Amino acid sequence: MNKYLIGRREVIFAAAAFAVTPAAEAQAEEEPPIHVVKGRGCECCEAWVDYLREQGFTVTDEVSMGTLLIRFKMDLGIPAKAFSCHTGTVDGYALEGHVPAADIRRLLDERPDAVGLAMPGMPYGSPGMGSEDSRDAYDVLLVSRDGSLKVYTSYPAA
Ligand code: CU
Ligand code: CU
Repeated sequence: MNKYLIGRREVIFAAAAFAVTPAAEAQAEEEPPIHVVKGRGCECCEAWVDYLREQGFTVTDEVSMGTLLIRFKMDLGIPAKAFSCHTGTVDGYALEGHVPAADIRRLLDERPDAVGLAMPGMPYGSPGMGSEDSRDAYDVLLVSRDGSLKVYTSYPAA
């Protein structure tokens, strides 16, 4: 009877090991979660949340609106000219708009002394904003603590 139970447990462990690939497991352990504050009923915000999850991030989200959402962005230190729709936070950094996963990972890796990243407006073809195959050119900006902006990554038009 004992022998049977041990054997069964081993089978369960083996199955669990196959269910999660080692790479995905390591990533989930190391990476901080992203919290997204978004507008009510905003589909592109939802699409960005889905995109981040597909890219392997752990994401929580919350609905805000109007002046509350603007207040949230301002309190984080995002200048009005860099505003987009939703605002994410990750490990002390702000993520304004449809920022690509590669830039978020670079930010977490380089850890600059900055507010975070912003992609002003909602450029077509950015993550959660339609097909990358016909995307418009856009820049992801690094937001400094004094509110100044500089290009972090330039994405050319497709
Ligand atoms: Cu949007
Ligand atoms: Cu949005």
